[in-house]
Amino acid sequence: MRSICVVGTGYVGLVTGTCFAELGNQVTCLDVDEAKIALLNSGKLPIYEPGLADLVQRNFNMGRLRFTTSYAEGMAAAEFVFIAVNTPSSGDNGGADLRFVESAAKSIGRHLDHDLIIVNKSTVPIGTGDLVASIVLAERKTDARFSVVSNPEFLREGSAVADCLNPDRVVLGSTNRTAAETVAGLYLSLRCPIIITDLATAEMIKYASNAMLATRISFINEIAEVCEALGADVKQVAIGMGYDKRIGSSFLEAGLGYGGSCFPKDVKALMHMASTQGCHPQMLQAVTDINSDQRKRAVDKVRNQLGRLEGKHVGLLGLAFKPNTDDMREAAAVDIANMLLAEGAHVRAYDPVAMEVARGLLPNLTYCHDAYDVARGCDALMIVTEWNEFKQLDMERVKAVMRQPVIVDGRNIYDGTTLREMGFTYQGTGRS
Ligand SMILES: NC(=O)c1ccc[n+]([C@@H]2O[C@H](COP(=O)([O-])OP(=O)(O)OC[C@H]3O[C@@H](n4cnc5c(N)ncnc54)[C@H](O)[C@@H]3O)[C@@H](O)[C@H]2O)c1
Repeated sequence: MRSICVVGTGYVGLVTGTCFAELGNQVTCLDVDEAKIALLNSGKLPIYEPGLADLVQRNFNMGRLRFTTSYAEGMAAAEFVFIAVNTPSSGDNGGADLRFVESAAKSIGRHLDHDLIIVNKSTVPIGTGDLVASIVLAERKTDARFSVVSNPEFLREGSAVADCLNPDRVVLGSTNRTAAETVAGLYLSLRCPIIITDLATAEMIKYASNAMLATRISFINEIAEVCEALGADVKQVAIGMGYDKRIGSSFLEAGLGYGGSCFPKDVKALMHMASTQGCHPQMLQAVTDINSDQRKRAVDKVRNQLGRLEGKHVGLLGLAFKPNTDDMREAAAVDIANMLLAEGAHVRAYDPVAMEVARGLLPNLTYCHDAYDVARGCDALMIVTEWNEFKQLDMERVKAVMRQPVIVDGRNIYDGTTLREMGFTYQGTGRS
């Protein structure tokens, strides 16, 4: 059993902290957000993540998992302090905003009164590990020693607990190999490859991985556009490509593009890092452009069917950036809803778990209690998030309540031939 403090109790901090507790460690999750910590201490979760609630409750009840807003309390017995705070995009240049990491490093430095290892899990630009070390050194009031290890996180929202307990690999980077090996000890029971490298390389592995995945999504979306123009079906193209072992089948789903709290900001941050070093990240620029075009193209399809959108009723099925999460950061639904509203459409929407979050971001939508309620009186229905419950709808019932049976399937969850036979005007993505 090791003693761990996790600074930042969001999607990454709460999930990794809970999983470390589940592995038998003593974990304190710390956050500056008092409301979040009060909620957790009252037995409620601030986020939706499959399987997390049970795990939090069990480890909380067993006394292995605690929540606090106090650095003094959180760090008191800690051998490891993980930084898992947010690193959003800063302003227009796309660089990562390191305010939260810097603030966490300052607080850690001020409360450092015994030797420990600082492990950075936030996705941060190359050089941030050294920056954290210099801040902690500047703030430190004692002789306590510390090392900084980079340990980028690869979990996916929607399957975060499973990813955390079954990672494809663990990446550790440090100038102090012994410190990295000590952190590796926390992961040994997971029996996965552990890569130990230098700080900069570990930080880069995270950005390069996310950029690669985003590139695959934009690649297949570009192919989808060509398929649509030439009469091929991108879904079958992707299946045919995926059997090639050199290519593989994952991240080849054409749709509304990537969203969420990671890919958009991380691709932009990598471009910014490259540009500031005089490099020309041309491919990443194209990846970003294609991604934002996908959302516009989906709205174009609705307009092509309905003519002017003013006064038309458009329904959105799904709001979260992907299924099994309530995360709306950079969700396609936000851009699509805003484009529709800007053209004077009335927008109805439903999502199984993200409606509460969505209400704050998109106050001018009509929120409905299920998919059939969304469809009522609609001139077009757009599939925005591929939640399983949308795949099994009674489409006769959907058609019966719509004003015009138009479906723009942004996630290719339906069979176009079947829907057309039922009398729908159906447009998928990359399927003529
Ligand atoms: N969300 C993901 O799927 C995912 C996956 C891999 C990596 N990451 C990376 O992990 C990091 C965290 O992402 P997230 O989605 O968990 O963010 P989040 O916004 O859900 O949570 C961050 C938390 O940090 C807290 N915080 C901010 N400053 C703090 C401080 N000084 N002291 C204590 N707490 C502080 C915030 O209040 C918030 O609760 C980011 O760098 C992100 O890019 C995220």
